[in-house]
Amino acid sequence: MNDTVSLLEARDVMKYFGDDRRPVLEHVSVELNQGEFVALLGPSGSGKSTLLRILAGLMKPSSGDVRVHGAPLDGPNPNVAIVFQSFALFPWLDVLQNVELGLLSIEMSDDDRRQRAVKAIDLIGLDGFEEAFPIELSGGMKQRVGFARALVVQPEVLFMDEPFSALDVLTAENLRTELQDLWLAKTMPTKAVVMVTHNIDEAVSLADRILVFGANPGHIRVELKGLPPSDRTTKSAARARLVELIYRIMTNPDDDAMAIVEHSQLDRPRAVASPRAGRRPAPARARRYQVLPDVGIDDVTGLVQYIGGIGGHAAVHDLSRDLQMRTDDLLSIVEATNLLGFGALQDRQVVLTPIGTRFADSELDEEKAIFRAQALDHIALLHHIVRDLETTPTHTLEAERVIDQLEHSFSGEEARRQFETAVDWGRYAELFTYDDSSGELTLDEEHRPT
Ligand SMILES: Nc1ncnc2c1ncn2[C@@H]1O[C@H](COP(=O)(O)OP(=O)(O)OP(=O)(O)O)[C@@H](O)[C@H]1O
Ligand SMILES: [Mg+2]
Repeated sequence: MNDTVSLLEARDVMKYFGDDRRPVLEHVSVELNQGEFVALLGPSGSGKSTLLRILAGLMKPSSGDVRVHGAPLDGPNPNVAIVFQSFALFPWLDVLQNVELGLLSIEMSDDDRRQRAVKAIDLIGLDGFEEAFPIELSGGMKQRVGFARALVVQPEVLFMDEPFSALDVLTAENLRTELQDLWLAKTMPTKAVVMVTHNIDEAVSLADRILVFGANPGHIRVELKGLPPSDRTTKSAARARLVELIYRIMTNPDDDAMAIVEHSQLDRPRAVASPRAGRRPAPARARRYQVLPDVGIDDVTGLVQYIGGIGGHAAVHDLSRDLQMRTDDLLSIVEATNLLGFGALQDRQVVLTPIGTRFADSELDEEKAIFRAQALDHIALLHHIVRDLETTPTHTLEAERVIDQLEHSFSGEEARRQFETAVDWGRYAELFTYDDSSGELTLDEEHRPT
């Protein structure tokens, strides 16, 4: 097999439905290579499932073509198996029979079929459930059957269309982790995976490459490189930045995605524009809160003081070397510095503002006062927390209430992270105290803003 030929490829695919030839996919080109995990994100109706069906050969494109190892595809793609959101199990068949169904179109003896099904069932953690019927199974176990039925054919390429979205959060997390382990350990014979998801965190956790779709008609807005596996853990700053970037792209569906990418990644562009990514400027939607980078306040104040001490400006490259920090970690701190109004990135230099310079030159008391004023003025979340604390008679606030509100703007995990960052900054500013055990914020009486 020639390594340079992709496993599967769509070339300039167009798809129309109905007599009015309503376009659903426009100029979609995508290539799938060996070893890749690709995530498709995008709004409802942007043609993600349609593209999967076309790549699986279950549907013909209106124009353009699909190639498997470079050869045109005509009819169902035997190298692909699909896991659906809805499980798609037959209720009158038990687990083993449901899994065997995946092998129906392949010529083999009953014994071989049974053996392979049993192996797939073991692999996916369904051991002991062979004779159970779908109605007896929880959602998570049903989806395991869906996975086993797809994997039993040992597909070269596995498609998953929102495989976890019908499951509750913990079950989804559990199954996602198991799947990731199987994939990373190369226990599956599968050479590439394509997953449709609505969940940014999920895409960032799993994918080597992320395609963001736009709608009306469906097209690829932008293609983003995923994180190296070591950065996919929840804590990494690189991860937080990628999640934020995708969030920003998806919440600004009418903006040019490449421009958003360029704006946010000042050190080096990591994204590749898609051919369709035309510039369609439109007013950005107002969002209630900025995205606070996941950095501790000591790092922010430390950086401002350091730069203050060396003349008020420094090249990112030099800072990274002298402070022995990775560029993306450093840029997260610079972003925090910028949000607080202490400094800005100008042509690869971090330059302190006048207030940043004053902050760097101040003694502790004045330093705190400056920080407090900047935080209240510039950080919407802190401003709102303090306003709520002032207006409640007890001057206290439950953390969960704040997090609930944040969940309108952020995913659950990200909402919590935003809260924790705000608490870190707000405590330093002596705006409020926070009791971890009771989960309660209390207004700082002494420094109550007027
Ligand atoms: N067989 C069909 N006949 C007519 N229209 C269809 C057909 N299949 C899909 N569509 C339309 O094509 C568009 C894209 O649908 P598709 O299911 O591919 O979107 P999607 O991105 O997967 O959305 P979701 O996130 O909601 O699953 C939708 O407007 C849908 O109504
Ligand atoms: Mg779909």
